Amino acid sequence: MIAITVPTAPPPAISVRGLVKRFGEIEAVRGVEFEVETGEVFGFLGPNGAGKTTTINMLCTLAKPTSGSAMVAGHDVVRERDGVRRNIGLVFQDPTLDGYLTAEQNLKLSLAGDLRPPSPHLHATLLELSGEGGPPLAREVPDAIASARRPTGPAAGRPPPSR
Ligand SMILES: Nc1ncnc2c1ncn2[C@@H]1O[C@H](COP(=O)(O)OP(=O)(O)OP(=O)(O)O)[C@@H](O)[C@H]1O
Ligand SMILES: [Mg+2]
Repeated sequence: MIAITVPTAPPPAISVRGLVKRFGEIEAVRGVEFEVETGEVFGFLGPNGAGKTTTINMLCTLAKPTSGSAMVAGHDVVRERDGVRRNIGLVFQDPTLDGYLTAEQNLKLSLAGDLRPPSPHLHATLLELSGEGGPPLAREVPDAIASARRPTGPAAGRPPPSR
């Protein structure tokens, strides 16, 4: 007997359908729909007050959608918040580093809740940063923190994108 396995395409990295967020009378997000493939670089643009931050907050599980659905790395942002959080990294617009800590200490602190052993990528990053005793680097450390989380979903094993 010959067994033929048909490779199934991985789910989109992000899939958003009819996403709505209301704050009382204000409809901050009005039925947004989009999809982002794994490995795709996606820019989310719009005028002030268009609902970008509110949408990103829902994708990061920081805000609950009023209606609609969103999946991140194959996990539902309402029903599988832990799964989403384990698969995402965030670089904030403004620095959120502790200036009293070294780059390595900042990185370790940000991952303190993650009990898994360091991924090869994180291990390499720690080695690279451990030579620096000075104040944290403004850009490199947030990038390292954001990409250090180890994917557990369909994207597992793929290297983080380099810049
Ligand atoms: N917590 C909140 N309570 C009430 N209204 C809110 C709240 N957060 C956002 N809004 C309103 O929702 C709309 C969308 O805001 P949001 O911050 O998501 O837009 P944005 O696209 O990120 O804007 P900007 O480009 O200025 O950052 C705005 O009208 C805003 O005033
Ligand atoms: Mg915003």
